[in-house]
Amino acid sequence: MYQKVRCSKTPPARSAAYVCFIAEGGKIHADDKTLDQKSDGAMSQAAKRTDVSGDVGETNVVYAKKRAFVMVGIGKLARVNANTMRIAGSRAVATLHRIGATSAHVSFHDGLNRRGKHAELGQAFGEGCGLGAFSFDTFKKLTSKQVGAKSLAIGSGDAEIDSAMRRGLALADSANFARELAATPPNVATTTYIAKQAQQLARKNATLSCSVLKGDALERERLVGLQNVGKASENEPCLIKLTYTPRRKSTGTIVLVGKTITYDTGGLSIKGGNGMKGMKYDKNGGMAVIGAMHAVAQIKPDCKVIALMPTAENSISDEAYRPDDIIEYPNGVTVEVTNTDAEGRLVLADGLAYACRRLKPDAVIDLATLTGGVVVALGKFRAGLWCEDSSLRKRIEAASEKTGELVWRLPLDREYRDMMKSQHADIWNSAPVRHAHPIQGAAFLSYFVDDSVPWAHLDIAGTSQVDSNAGPYSAGPTGFGVRLLAEFLDSWSS
Ligand code: BES
Ligand code: ZN
Ligand code: ZN
Repeated sequence: MYQKVRCSKTPPARSAAYVCFIAEGGKIHADDKTLDQKSDGAMSQAAKRTDVSGDVGETNVVYAKKRAFVMVGIGKLARVNANTMRIAGSRAVATLHRIGATSAHVSFHDGLNRRGKHAELGQAFGEGCGLGAFSFDTFKKLTSKQVGAKSLAIGSGDAEIDSAMRRGLALADSANFARELAATPPNVATTTYIAKQAQQLARKNATLSCSVLKGDALERERLVGLQNVGKASENEPCLIKLTYTPRRKSTGTIVLVGKTITYDTGGLSIKGGNGMKGMKYDKNGGMAVIGAMHAVAQIKPDCKVIALMPTAENSISDEAYRPDDIIEYPNGVTVEVTNTDAEGRLVLADGLAYACRRLKPDAVIDLATLTGGVVVALGKFRAGLWCEDSSLRKRIEAASEKTGELVWRLPLDREYRDMMKSQHADIWNSAPVRHAHPIQGAAFLSYFVDDSVPWAHLDIAGTSQVDSNAGPYSAGPTGFGVRLLAEFLDSWSS
């Protein structure tokens, strides 16, 4: 697959391929008549074939005058939206790579400009191209590593669409940065490795700075969740802090908190059966957050953004924390550990309480692969959202709809908070009944956020990774949250 997709202002070279969008029924838009003529009518000939349907994401290639014309289906023209274009982009890129193209002219016909939608659809197409070009082959030594063209330049010949595509490609780059880290195996992506990645990101961007709290600093700040969850591993736990400072006057401070468990064995409450495989993805909340900072450094919103990544490995040894342990957080809340596999909430509690105690946030958003229960409830299509602040919630939902990283609100009534009250301490990390697991997680976290701070929790256990190709994603990590957060922060500041 391509290592890089970029948008070029200069018209693609004479050897370039053409991409055009065809609607359901294999309809070539009237606007693409000249393009069809360039293909000596090969496009319209192909469009008549019964196997060319114009369904979303279907691609067909015809050749004329030594040029490739890639026809990408977009379904019913009246129904085309950003999601359609993300899928179209991801399929177009795969096809362009297969035929060895290094540049492509993308024809956005007038039919896509209803209500001035060219820019929105151009951005989505750019996102799709970038997301579709992701592949994780770092560890493939013998097979198919980097065959074919290495980079692709796309251009539309229209300045507005090009700049929208460029933004889309940049957002996809940030998501792919998160996906690459997410896919990196736990023997490589240790706690220190993740910290180094954050430091490197800050070194490359003048608006970002990074600090890492570990060892004595954890003790000083009483980050007891991290200390306990990380105790059994030879890889030291840490709190990674990435700060973005806007050049202009700041419009407030947003804190992002991402669960970064580099591996979740369950601890002494060990995961059984097939439950452990795939737990390298238990760092994906943190990867969403670091990916969002990667994007923030490009789109430069006017608000201050602080990313906190409580990072630990939930492992097993004679030093492991145990079910029955009681730990006390600096906000005075005591927690009885009933299940060491409910570790995410313990480290997130550190992040949330630290944010409220130290960072004076205008809003806090946490992302975590917190529960298997949310996958049962919502599947792989929507993340669970808990947010009792309607203004913050609306902003998150708007960013979600715009980016196609979908969420669904779940409740957080007092009764759920009461479920978390423990027999031996203030609260326990998991109630003895399995009822409403994902909500229990959110309810637990609520004990660590000051009432005055607008807060949202996203359980991304289902959406952060897919087992088979879905939408613009290939099987593997999706980078869920990166584009949503970037869009949210951008709209917060404007
Ligand atoms: N990391 C898991 C949640 C998870 C499960 C993510 C499956 C992705 C796929 C989390 O730490 C966990 O183990 N949660 C428990 C919670 C329970 C012990 C309260 C769960 O979901 O069963
Ligand atoms: Zn767990
Ligand atoms: Zn976990």
